[in-house]
Amino acid sequence: MMSAFSMNIFNSVAVVTFDTPDQKVNIFNLVTIEEFGEILDQLEEMGTDLKGAVIISAKERNFIAGADLSLIEGISDPDEGAAMARTGQELFDRIAALPFTTVAAIHGSCLGGGLELALACDHRVASDAAETFLGLPETQLGIIPGFGGTQRLPRLVGLLESVRMITTGSPVYPMKALRTALVDEVVKREHLMDAAMAAVVGNLPKPSKSRKNFATKVEKLLEKNNPGRKFLLGKARKAVLANTRGQYPAPMAAIDAIEYGLNHGMAKGLARENQIFGQMAVTEISKNLIRVFRLREFFAKGDPSLAADINNIAVIGGGAMGGGIAALAAERGMHVRLIDMSEKALGAAIKFLNDDVGKKRQKHRYTGVVADWIPTRLTVDTQMRGMGASDVVIEAVAERMDVKKSVFSSVAGKVSNTTAILTNTSSLSVTEMAADVPHPDRVAGFHFFNPVDRMPLVEVIRGEQTSVETADRMAAFARKLGKVPIIVKDSPGFLVNRLLLPYLNEACLLLADGANIGQIDRALLDFGMPMGVFILLDQVGIDIVVHAGRSMVDRFGDRMKQSPIPEAMVEAGRLGKKSGKGFYSWDSAGKRQTDPETGKLLAPHLSGKETFTNDQIVQRLIYSMINEATLCLEEGVVETVQAVDAAMIFGAGFPPFTGGLLRYADEVGARGIVDTLSGLADEVDSRFEPSATLKNMAEGGEVFYP
Ligand code: NAI
Repeated sequence: MMSAFSMNIFNSVAVVTFDTPDQKVNIFNLVTIEEFGEILDQLEEMGTDLKGAVIISAKERNFIAGADLSLIEGISDPDEGAAMARTGQELFDRIAALPFTTVAAIHGSCLGGGLELALACDHRVASDAAETFLGLPETQLGIIPGFGGTQRLPRLVGLLESVRMITTGSPVYPMKALRTALVDEVVKREHLMDAAMAAVVGNLPKPSKSRKNFATKVEKLLEKNNPGRKFLLGKARKAVLANTRGQYPAPMAAIDAIEYGLNHGMAKGLARENQIFGQMAVTEISKNLIRVFRLREFFAKGDPSLAADINNIAVIGGGAMGGGIAALAAERGMHVRLIDMSEKALGAAIKFLNDDVGKKRQKHRYTGVVADWIPTRLTVDTQMRGMGASDVVIEAVAERMDVKKSVFSSVAGKVSNTTAILTNTSSLSVTEMAADVPHPDRVAGFHFFNPVDRMPLVEVIRGEQTSVETADRMAAFARKLGKVPIIVKDSPGFLVNRLLLPYLNEACLLLADGANIGQIDRALLDFGMPMGVFILLDQVGIDIVVHAGRSMVDRFGDRMKQSPIPEAMVEAGRLGKKSGKGFYSWDSAGKRQTDPETGKLLAPHLSGKETFTNDQIVQRLIYSMINEATLCLEEGVVETVQAVDAAMIFGAGFPPFTGGLLRYADEVGARGIVDTLSGLADEVDSRFEPSATLKNMAEGGEVFYP
C-alpha cells in the first residue's frame, strides 16, 4: 500500500512530504499516525548524520487539516480519549526531541493537529497565499487541542494570543502569524522550500521591531508568579463565560489546561491536557458540535465546476442586503456591477466594501496587493447598463412584488441567454415573480441572511419553473461565495422564516398572556439562542414581521393567527432598531435600553395575568418551531431533517451545541413534545396541535436521527 509520507534527503536535510493518497487534505488517522511514527523511527536512527528535517505537504490548499473527526466521534470513555491524545503528544514530543533542526513548511490550511505538529518543530515558514491560515479550532468542536497545543502555543506566542486563538478557534493569517511569532518567515509559495532549507541552517530573517516588542511582552507574562498572568486568565475566563453563557465548556477547560501547564511545567501540562481532552471528547456537546461540523461539510460540498463560469455578477439594489452581496462577491474574486437609482446607496456600498477590506488588511487577512485589487472589482451605476456580460443577476430592491417584477422584466431584456436571474426576496413568491420572464427556468430565489458577510446560509429557492440545473448551479454559486446553500421549495417564508415567524409571534402572544419582555428574552438567551426574541424583532424590523405574518395567515389560516402587538407597534411608529424605537429603544450607536413607553403602549393588549417558568417559555417557542419544521417536511419545503437543522443553525443562529432544532427534538423525545403541545392545544389554543409526523413518531418511539 502507498504510504502518505515520503522522505528524501538533500544535502543532509531530510524532506518529509505528507500526501495522503486520493484525499484533498492530510489528516491524522490511525494509519497516518502509524506511518508518521515510522518516519520518526528513521529520522531518529539517522540522528546527527542529518543537519535537519523539513516537513511539507504536497496538497494544493492544505498542510494538515488535523485529526480524523471520526476518531474523536468514536470516543466513549474519557480514558480512551486521554490515551488517544497521549499517542499524538508522544509523536510530537519525538519531533521536538530530534537532535537536529526541524522546520514546518506550511502552505494551505494548517489546523488542529497540523498546527500542533508545526509547533513541535523548531521553526515554521509559511506561504503568503490566501489559502494559508493557521489555527486550533478544537474548542469549536467541544474538545481542546490534545496533541500539545495548549502547552506549546502559549510558550511560543504568549498567553494572550494563545488564549485568544484556542478559546475562539479563529484562524490566523500569515502576516499576523509573523507578527505574533507563530511563524518565523512568510514567503511566496514558490520559495517555501528554499526558505525552509535556509531555516534549517539558521538562516532566518531578523525579527521586526513590532515582533520584538510583542515577544518581550510574551516573555514577561510567562515568568512564574507574574501577577499579570492571573489577572489575564481571570479576564479571559470572564470573556468566555459572557460569550458562551456557560453552554460551551471546552474553551474554559482549555484555559485550565494552559494555566496548569504554565504553573507546573510542560510534562505535567501535557498530562493535564490529555486528561481534559478525554473528558471533553465524551460530552454530548462535543458530539453535537461535531455533528454540526459534518452538516456544514455536507451542504458546503458539491461540484464546483457547476459555477466555474460564474465570474461576472450584477446586483440590483444596493441597500443593506445588495451592498453586502456586492461586497462579498467582489471579495470572492468576482467582477461586480452594482445598480441602484440612489447615488447615496451606491456611495454607502462602496464605503462598506472599502471599510471591510481595510479591516481585513489591518488584521493581516489580506496582503496589501490583494486589498488594493478588491475594490477595483466593484463598479456602480444608477442605470441598468452593461447587463449583457453578467453570468448572474441578483435583485435586492424593495420587498414589493410590483417593483421586483418590473426589475425582472427590464433585466430579462438585457441579459444573455445563459444568465441566471435571482431574487433575494425574503417572503415573496419566486414563481409569481418569474411569471412574465421569458426563461423562468433560469429564475430562482437566492435568499441571504442579514448581515450577509456573517450569516453562512443561502436558501436557494426553486420556483415552480426553476430548472434542476439552475438550482444546482446556483447552489454551486453560493458555495463559490463561501456560503452554505440549502435548496428550498417556493412556499411562504421558505424554510427559515416559516419557522421563525411562529417563534416571534408566539413570543408576542406569550407577552399578552402575562410574561414580560425581559423574562422571555432571558429565557431564550439561556436556552442558547444568539439574541433575545424581542431584540430579534427589533433588528428584523417589526413592519417586516407584520407584513410577512399576513402572508402566513393568508396561506395557513388560523394556525398562524398573528398577535395584534406587532401591528400596534407599527401603528405607533415603532418599527424597531431602524426607527430608534421598537420593543426596546435604540440609540444612534445601536445600543439598546428597556423603554417604559413600550409597556404603556402595549397595556391594552396585556390582559393576561399568568406567570410562566423559563421552561414553559422555551417550550412554547421552541416546540412551536419543531412542530412547524415537521409540517415543512410533510409539505416537502425541504427534503431532509439535516436540511432543517443546517438552515436553522446557519441562517437563524439556532444554538450549535444542541446539534440543531430536530436533533434537540430527539433529545427531548417526540413523546414529551407531543404531550406538551397537546396539553397547550387543549388549554390554550388549537395552534399548538401537534403534526401527524410528531404524533406518529411519539406513537412509534421514533427519532429524527436514528
Ligand atoms: P434596502 O431598503 O436597504 O435597499 C433597497 C435598495 O434598493 C435601496 O438602496 C433602493 O434605492 C434600491 N432600489 C429600489 N428600487 C430600485 C430599482 N427599481 N432599481 C434599482 N434600485 C432600486 O432593503 P434591504 O434590507 O437591502 O432589502 C432588499 C431585499 O432583500 C428585500 O427584498 C428584502 O426582503 C430582502 N432581504 C432583506 C433582509 C434584511 O434583513 N434586511 C434579509 C434577507 C432578505
